[in-house]
Order: sequence, then structure tokens, then C-alpha cells
Amino acid sequence: MSTAGQSIRDIFNAETGTDITTRGWVKTRRDSKGVTFVQLNDGSCFRDLQVVVDAGTIPDDVLASVTTGACIMVHGLLVDSPAAGQPVEVKAQSITVYGDADPLTYPLQKKGHTMEFLREIAHLRPRSNTFGAVFRVRNVLSHAIHTFFQDRGFLYVHTPIITTSDCEGAGAMFGVTTLDLMNLPREPRGGIDYTKDFFGKPAYLTVSGQLEAEVFALAFSNVYTFGPTFRAENSNTPRHLAEFWMIEPEMAFCDLDGDRALAEDFLKFIINSVLDKCADDIEFFNKRIDNTVLETLEHVTKSAFEHVTYTEAVRLLEKADRSFEFPVTWGCDLQSEHERYLTEDVFKKPVIVTDYPKEIKAFYMRMNDDGRTVRAMDVLAPRIGEIIGGSQREERLDVLKERIKAQGLPEEPYSWYMDLRRYGTVPHAGFGLGLERMMMYVTGMKNIRDVTPFPRTPGSAEF
Ligand code: 4AD
Ligand code: MG
Repeated sequence: MSTAGQSIRDIFNAETGTDITTRGWVKTRRDSKGVTFVQLNDGSCFRDLQVVVDAGTIPDDVLASVTTGACIMVHGLLVDSPAAGQPVEVKAQSITVYGDADPLTYPLQKKGHTMEFLREIAHLRPRSNTFGAVFRVRNVLSHAIHTFFQDRGFLYVHTPIITTSDCEGAGAMFGVTTLDLMNLPREPRGGIDYTKDFFGKPAYLTVSGQLEAEVFALAFSNVYTFGPTFRAENSNTPRHLAEFWMIEPEMAFCDLDGDRALAEDFLKFIINSVLDKCADDIEFFNKRIDNTVLETLEHVTKSAFEHVTYTEAVRLLEKADRSFEFPVTWGCDLQSEHERYLTEDVFKKPVIVTDYPKEIKAFYMRMNDDGRTVRAMDVLAPRIGEIIGGSQREERLDVLKERIKAQGLPEEPYSWYMDLRRYGTVPHAGFGLGLERMMMYVTGMKNIRDVTPFPRTPGSAEF
């Protein structure tokens, strides 16, 4: 099979009157007197290409197989479409059916399916309008993320997926082992003898590439990672995945104010790229998924983010004219309902909350002079809550050691991390953006499972 043939996106930009060859999957087929209309899509753009088959041009047995779900090649003439709805259409001269699809059993019918049902057919849902749009946006978002950092001279570093240190110190890690679970090697005192395991010690899937990104920032100044991360937390919510992609820039010679400024520029840049390159897809989300999404995105790119400290945020929450399921007092972790109240009701745009109590944040965040708060920041977005978590890092060896101890973490796995403070330490900062949370924000999709090709959540790892 040659690769000659144009994408449907290219065809929409081609001159009418030319011969074209195109391929794709049949969305729908409609027969009317003496003519058949076929809507064809190859994933290259939101719009379907209309193929018009006049009676007698295509052998009946071939046309019989041109049904919803079938994969076909069409050769024909590109003409101006007389009907409203599409600028051009193809007058078919020949059709080849690569693969037919039994219309009685093909699960993806034209009728509107529920998101829950579409999740069960995640192997076919990419062909639907909604998921075509979702995954084109995800692609453009990923490209824009690299462009943003590459244009600013950040070095892309591939941090490991298998790790022996817990970045967040939260213990929510998936173990990686080759030990026989039915016949575990034991230490004299009964514990598992990990010296017999593949890596000679306990190993896990990473929860974050940050610690290793810090190593590279202290050599290359500005770096970022962009890769899969894993959390074994039993959170069955519309915004948690067990496997998600995270973008983590890390900058030497940078404090929390610089970190905050970068996060804002970064979010605005990637939103603009999506608005620019995925106009049809975003228009669809705005029409069919959430009719505030376009306005929200345009507004966000033009207005400054809010900034409040945690202490100010708590004051605002205490003053709120509504009650919360989780009551608020200084020192508590902000729950999703609190985050949403701040962004949706108080500020109506993204808010950056900084300087959280040290007890509720990770060991590596820089201690403030008050001894109670750390230089943490969370970027909160309407509808989603937290989309970014970041901080200035503790660059002072003695303070870092104290923090590791205070959080009850072992020192040994972090010895190399402490070396960075021993040799040529410097103020530095970074953050992590959850790609899927960002996807929810730009598309208006309500469940993180529906912006992820093959979602992994508690009790579910299909496909
Ligand atoms: O706030 P988190 O846990 O921060 C870190 O991991 C830092 N090491 C990042 C850094 O400073 N380099 O996670 C960062 C972001 C969250 O704001 C959220 O967007 C996303 O990762 N995230 C999740 N997304 C989907 N499912 C989950 N279970 C997530 N946990 C975090
Ligand atoms: Mg966080």
C-alpha cells in the first residue's frame, strides 16, 4: 500500500476541481434517491468529509460494505458543495473497502452514547467526535508544552520511571518487584529480604520526576521533565488517576515569585496555542460539553492570575457565606470544595495560593522565616481545583535534614539529594502541572477518565 493520499484536513484546504484520494472511517451513511452520502473522518480534523456517491458509479457489492465503522479509500473529484454544512465534498469515482464493519454489532453508533459507555469501548471511542477532539487537543497541548520550554532554553531531561526514593514522601507508590509473591525471601526477623529483589532494594514507580530534575537544574540551570507518573492513592474521583502525565520545570537561581510568574506565562502560552490550533475542536467543546469554556479560556489569557497566601485564603474561606463539608481552620489542607470556592466564587479565575503550613506540604519545600509556613504554591483553576503544585526548594542542608527527620522519612534514600545542598547549592524552584487536569480545564470535560487515552484508576486498568 502506498502512502499517497491526502489527509482530510489537507483536502479542506485544497483547490476544488482537483482529483483527490482520501482514506478514513465511515461516520455515517445516508441513502437518498439515486445518491448516497458518506461522512468520512480520518482523525486529522474535527470536520467530516462528505463523499457523494451517485447511483451506478460504485458496484453495489462494494457500496453495500460502506457502512458506519468501515475503513475505506475514496478516489474522486473535489467540488464545491451545493448544500449548506460543508464547503466542499468529494464526488466518488471509485471506492476500496479496507475493512468492513457489521452495522448490527459495531458499538459506536450515531446516537449519543454516555461517557460511561464510551469508556467501556476505549478502543473505539477515539473515532467519535468527542474523543477525536479530546486527543487532538491533547496532542497540541503536548507540543505547545515542549515549544514553551524549548523556546526559553530549558533542557528536556528524561527522569526515571522506576525509582527508589519517594519524592512526595507520601508513601502512595506502586511497588516494582520480580520477587515471587507466593514465596518471598525472608530476613532473619521475618521482613522481606529485598537484597534478593531485582534492584537489591525496594523499588517503585515514580510519583514525580522532581528530585532528579533538581539534579539537572543544578547543572543545566533551567530544565523540565514531561513524563508519566504514578500514584497508588485510593482516590476514586473525577480528577484523580493512578497513572498521569506531569510536566515539571525546575529552575536554578529562581525563587517562588519567579516560579509563580513562569507558571502563569506557561499556562497562558499553552492555552493560546490550543485556541489557535484547535479552533474547531474547542468550538465543539463549547457547543456540546461546556458552553463557558471558550469565554473562560479567552478571559484567562488576557487577565492576571490572582495571588493570595494560604493564610489569606483561610480568612476568605472562614468569611464565606456558605458552609463546607470540611470545616476550615488555619493548618488544614484545602479540600477541592475550598479550592473551587476561591476560584469560582471569590476570584472567578485562576488563583495562586502560596506559603502553606509546613505540616501539610512535602519535605523539600523551603522553610519561611516564620518557621510555620513553607514556600509552596498551588495554582487553582475554576471547575478543577489544583492544576499545579510547586515550590521554592529548601537549599540549606541543615534545614533540609531537619525537615526529612520531622516528616519521619529515612535519610539514606535522600543522601544524593542532600549532596546537592552540600556541593554548590543555590536557591531554586519548580512546579508540576498535571497534563490531564489541564486537559479538563481546556476542554470542559468533566471526568479525567475522558481526557486520557486508557485511564488507570482504582479497580480499573483495561486495555
Ligand atoms: O502537587 P503534586 O503532588 O506535586 C508534585 O508532584 C511536585 N513534585 C511537583 C513539582 O514541584 N515538580 O502534583 C502536581 C500536579 C497536581 O497539581 C495535579 O495537577 C497533578 O500533578 N496530579 C494529579 N493528576 C491526576 N491524578 C492524580 N492522582 C494527581 N496527583 C497530582
Ligand atoms: Mg499538590
